[in-house]
This record gives sequence, C-alpha cells and structure tokens, in this order.
Amino acid sequence: MQVNPNNPIGVFDSGIGGLTVVRALMERMPFENIIYFGDTARVPYGLKSVETISRYATQITEFLLRQNVKLLIVACNTMSSVAYQAIEDLSPVPVLDVVDAGARSAVNETHNKYVGVIGTPVTINSNAYARAINKYDPEIRIFSQPCPLFVPLVEEGWFDHQVTRLTAQEYLKPIMAQNIDTLVLGCTHYPLLKSLLQEVLGDQIMLVDSAQAITQQTGELLDKDNLRNGQGKPPGYRFYVTDVPIRFQGIGERFLGRTLSNVSVVKW
Ligand code: DGL
Repeated sequence: MQVNPNNPIGVFDSGIGGLTVVRALMERMPFENIIYFGDTARVPYGLKSVETISRYATQITEFLLRQNVKLLIVACNTMSSVAYQAIEDLSPVPVLDVVDAGARSAVNETHNKYVGVIGTPVTINSNAYARAINKYDPEIRIFSQPCPLFVPLVEEGWFDHQVTRLTAQEYLKPIMAQNIDTLVLGCTHYPLLKSLLQEVLGDQIMLVDSAQAITQQTGELLDKDNLRNGQGKPPGYRFYVTDVPIRFQGIGERFLGRTLSNVSVVKW
C-alpha cells in the first residue's frame, strides 16, 4: 500500500494517559502531524475483559484508519497486551505497540537479567511483557506486579504525595526483594510517577519508560520505510475523545506538558 509520508501518525489509548506518548513524539519529531484518540468515556480498560477491550480497540482502529493515518501507535499497555493481534489484522499501515517497545528496552538495559514489570491487572495477567521480553532473551527472569491504584492516583495529580509514596512502597516491596536491576513502567500513567518511583526504588534500579521506548522505535520505522514528514512546517495536532470529563483539560495538559487544544468529542 502506497502511504503518503505527510499523513498523520495515529496514537490511541483508553483515555488521556497516552498523551505521555504524544508528548515524547512531539519533543522528538517536531514535524510529524499527530491524531490522538482517547476513549475517555470508557476508561479504565485495565480491569475489563479481553473480549471487551478487543471490541473497543477494533472500533478505535477503524476510526483512525478512516483519518488516513500512516502509522498506528497503540499507546495503551492494556490494549497492546491483549488486542494487538486484532488491531494488526485490521490495519494496512504499520502498527507499533508499547509492550514490544518496552520489552526491547528492558532487554537492552538489564545486566543481571532480573526484570520487574508493573502495570494494570489485565496487562500483568496477560503475561504479555514476559512473553515479549523472553522472545528477545529467554534467560531473563521477570517479576510482575499489578498496581491498580496508580492510575487513579495519577489522575488525581498526586505525583509527589505521601499516599502515592506509601502505595508505591507497598506494591514494590515484593519485586524489590527479587534483586531486579530494571523495572518496566508498563502503563501509560506511570511515567508521571517516575521521580517518586525512583526515590522508592533507589538509584540502582533502571526505569524503562515505554513512552520513550516507543518514540525511539517510531523514529526507526519512519526512517526504514521512508515515512518521515518532509514538509518541514509546523505540524497539526488533533485530539479525539469520547467524553469530556470534569478536569479533563487540566489533567490532559499535565500529561502533555503543554496547552491542549483542537479537542473534538466523538459520539458513539
Ligand atoms: N492506558 C492504560 C494502560 O496503559 C491505563 C488506564 C486504563 O486502565 O485504561 O494500561
């Protein structure tokens, strides 16, 4: 299929957490047009069934393909973990997902081959990170921990709060006892807790931020397929959501690190 390099990159997530990926893309690829889709009416996905998540992921994929995206980025770890195949089967354009990107980075970072993964209950139960990491290096031992309270704590803006610190200490205790040297932040929301998590873990443990990892992979793919936008002019950004919850603007701007404009609501 002939793809126009000036077409936008489509990024999607269960809500606004995937804006951490958009932010990294904007910083590293300042000429790329981006369309973002956040399913804010149905978030969180992290506790839903695989069947429901796959159905939602299919709807969003079809929507973005109708916008003529040149590449799809599944920014949501939960969708990447259980619906990647359904998305890829539908898409005539390349699909990148945060699980594969995070797994590759973890494999590069670990020295002692003991890696921790944290994410939503669906992501952790799916074992997707362990499979992806062991595909690249079967010797790596993986220790996983679901951290369901982190998503609401981040949405509350409690990035540096005593409640979040205590919650992190509790969640991380079992995996810290395993002598891991690398921890994958397997959820869109967790990069916003990076400083607090690093403080709890100590500086001997390397944090893998899947937003950074996927941006690196996106750059490699655009170069390989000659898909970089060569127009060299300020790019266009469009944001689609399925609902505008109270405080949406404020939280969204914290994820994005800049003003959030051009937001449209999709009614399904
Ligand atoms: N976007 C989800 C993820 O990365 C977190 C929020 C949710 O549970 O939908 O796993």
